[in-house]
Amino acid sequence: MIFEKKILCIGAGYVGGPTMAMIAFKCPRYRVTVVDIDPERIEAWNSPDLPIYEPGLDQLIAATRGRNLFFSTDIEAGIRENDIIFVSVNTPTKSFGLGAGMAADLQYWEKTARQILAFSESSKIVIEKSTLPVKTSLAMERILNSRANGILFDVLSNPEFLAEGTAIRDLEQPDRILIGSRETERGLKARQTLAEIYANWIPQEKIITSNIWSSELSKLVANAFLAQRISSINSISALCEKAEADVGEVSRAVGMDSRIGSKFLNASVGFGGSCFKKDILNLVYLCRNYGLEEVADYWESVVRINDYQQERFIQNMLGAMFNTLAGKRICLWGFAFKADTSDTRESPAIFIARRLLEERAEVVVSDPKALKNARLDLAGTAGRVSYVEAPARAAAGCHAIALLTEWDLYRRLDFKKIFKTMEKPAFIFDGRNLLDHRRCFDIGFNVYPLGRPPLTHY
Ligand code: NAD
Ligand code: UGA
Repeated sequence: MIFEKKILCIGAGYVGGPTMAMIAFKCPRYRVTVVDIDPERIEAWNSPDLPIYEPGLDQLIAATRGRNLFFSTDIEAGIRENDIIFVSVNTPTKSFGLGAGMAADLQYWEKTARQILAFSESSKIVIEKSTLPVKTSLAMERILNSRANGILFDVLSNPEFLAEGTAIRDLEQPDRILIGSRETERGLKARQTLAEIYANWIPQEKIITSNIWSSELSKLVANAFLAQRISSINSISALCEKAEADVGEVSRAVGMDSRIGSKFLNASVGFGGSCFKKDILNLVYLCRNYGLEEVADYWESVVRINDYQQERFIQNMLGAMFNTLAGKRICLWGFAFKADTSDTRESPAIFIARRLLEERAEVVVSDPKALKNARLDLAGTAGRVSYVEAPARAAAGCHAIALLTEWDLYRRLDFKKIFKTMEKPAFIFDGRNLLDHRRCFDIGFNVYPLGRPPLTHY
């Protein structure tokens, strides 16, 4: 079959895999290849056991893999044979040298640029899908256009806004697609080529364009605003606990103002995920670099409140359980950073588990999808940790349950039965305000919600 367009994606992760599966699904006339340096990841993409859990992804892969979607480790051939190259490699926080703990580590990104330069035999459009500091595309252009051999590269910014757990819906019906380009004749033409791909299923009015720096910056700012809402409501949850107000009632009342809106106002044990913290720190680093100290401090406080919220959760547990957790068995319900994903990157559960172990508690970890990652995250941690998938079995013999991920299945458990199997007094610390607190209290639990008065039997 002759394909109309040949598309490559470098980086077969949480973004590269699902995004390319959606393009392949919606555009059967395009051939889409996804490459990665990690052979195990590629093997998993080519097997029935996909490397990530994402609702609806299995069906999308089943419909496209081998038809017009291919996963491979042959990066060189991929670059040679394709004209449109998305780059969705990881851009973690730098852990060494200048900017350690703040700036984005661009080594994978730069390595990719050099690979594209080394293996290209014709002109290409190179698209930043990864989240990057503003002006990265300038560095990309400089590397790519460093050889005077007649091959031209147009760099576009096309940040991804999908959220894990709802990635397939987000890709199918995004709020917007943002394409940033140089405002030159070539830049505008490249922008048009990319817009045509999305126009296969996305209404024209949702495909927006901008200059390339605005596009890069918009992605960091969108994540910073989302995280800021969570830190705002989490800070208020602390106040509610002191003032005997109910954070759920406050967020409902505040969110009904159409200027504010009701989404992303759920108080929690803290936000996790691979991006919020890293992207805010990246923004903070950029601001400091430009000498904007006040702006940097403002955004940094979003991360500070998130750290505070996680530590506060532990302190509430300690306070409620007679100021000692030593020797007590605590069950964690949920380890993923949010429901409907197996991803545990930056999950508050990692911090909570480590702090509980520091307090010499025994930890039982339970999660329907994330136990494999949880084992890796806690490997080498001193202390007693066990892993039990079924939540009721995990809670048996425990002094307390700490609910950390809002998996729907936790709502539907037989709490009477669970109560009977636990040590008394039995505690529930609901880090997501997911459960029916009154019902659990009536069964006999001492219930500690977030941002609401506790329900205790003494
Ligand atoms: P990931 O770690 O899951 O995937 C990145 C992949 O790139 C890995 O499989 C890695 O092996 C591969 N890689 C690294 N260097 C490579 C190279 N030189 N050649 C080929 N492959 C290489 O990361 P992710 O979660 O998919 O995120 C990727 C980017 O997208 C990040 O910048 C992130 O900030 C951004 N983003 C992520 C999400 C999300 O929900 N995870 C959403 C929007 C944007
Ligand atoms: C987030 C953004 O929502 C995406 O738009 C963005 O593309 C992505 O980051 C990224 O750049 O990686 P994601 O981290 O997958 O997506 O998931 P979210 O739904 O945003 O949740 C992030 C964290 O905030 C989770 O730990 C979640 O439990 C928490 N959260 C979310 C709350 O505590 N309260 C809320 O009201 C909402």
